[in-house]
Amino acid sequence: MEDLQRLETEIISAIVACDDLGGLEELRVAQVGKKGRVSLLMRELGKMSPEEKKEFGPKLNGLKNRIIDGITAQKTNLEQQELNRRLLSEKIDITLPTPPENMGSIHPITQVMDEVAEIFTEIGFSIAEGPEIEEDFYNFTALNIPAEHPARQMHDTFYFPEDAEGNRKLLRTHTSPVQIRTMISGEPPYRIIAPGRTYRCDSDATHTPMFHQVEALVIDKDIHMGHLKWCIEEFCRKFFDLDDVKIRFRPSYFPFTEPSAEVDIGCAFKDGEILIGEGDDWLEIMGCGMVNPRVLENVNLNPDEYQGFAFGMGLDRIAMLKWGIPDLRDFFAADLRWLKHYGFAALDIPSLSTQSKAGNK
Ligand code: DAH
Repeated sequence: MEDLQRLETEIISAIVACDDLGGLEELRVAQVGKKGRVSLLMRELGKMSPEEKKEFGPKLNGLKNRIIDGITAQKTNLEQQELNRRLLSEKIDITLPTPPENMGSIHPITQVMDEVAEIFTEIGFSIAEGPEIEEDFYNFTALNIPAEHPARQMHDTFYFPEDAEGNRKLLRTHTSPVQIRTMISGEPPYRIIAPGRTYRCDSDATHTPMFHQVEALVIDKDIHMGHLKWCIEEFCRKFFDLDDVKIRFRPSYFPFTEPSAEVDIGCAFKDGEILIGEGDDWLEIMGCGMVNPRVLENVNLNPDEYQGFAFGMGLDRIAMLKWGIPDLRDFFAADLRWLKHYGFAALDIPSLSTQSKAGNK
């Protein structure tokens, strides 16, 4: 058997002297790879007497392990050196102006959120927020969707594993739970919108597992459907930048509103494009209704004293309509060419007075 001590010194010096990752890998294969020098020596153990095995087995194993450790350490070392070299060579001078080809832009979803917020805050709404990881109570039960209610099946919910008390948190399936959080935490009247991310287990050209909604809630004394209708019409006029926009309320069902309706906006489908405000076709843009008295009772409001309306709208959907974006999935594909094409310049937000310049690119 070779002089193991000499062999180790030789290999370890070669490892330490090796200054590139490719060379290090070659060394590894040549020494401890399947047919490497040390591996071949280990094979010889089979031919040895039990006494020799007892002596050389642990020695060879130790040698092999120290070589592997040495190679790992040198690898980390070389990777670190490489990283330092790159960090030095890729240093950027952040005091230089950004070259136009590197300029970022505002994502259409951010733009839509800003425009929606601008329109509603102008008519007296404030902005409310809620968590994306939500409790069953806020997402369903308090909204008059008890366990076993068939409406739960309309929401393909992402659930978290059960906690010690047997409760399962979930990713909110809509922004409606923010209604409940708002009503539980303060005193009426309420006039809020709640834009944000929502999640459902669904994916195709018009659905992504994560999408965006805005919820609106108005609660006061003497609120009626006329207020709801005006509010939605006013929003559509401003958002789509049209003086007379056609809107239709279609009776519908939501557990948290009574009566409930879906809102369609008048449009035309021309050469594969959707034109808002023209033609005889209709496109659904939101769900709405008068807040169900049961929901008010769930948050300890007296339905004989207070009433209100709510609506919920898909932000991705209205962005697609406004800027003629055909596939929802592209919003989240992080394709720079797409972002350049549909993105907005930073200074265009959020003023609506610049909207017609910023939009319709
Ligand atoms: N939460 C509903 C959904 O995601 C949308 C909705 C409908 C919200 C009616 C409302 C409403 O506030 O009144 O499908």
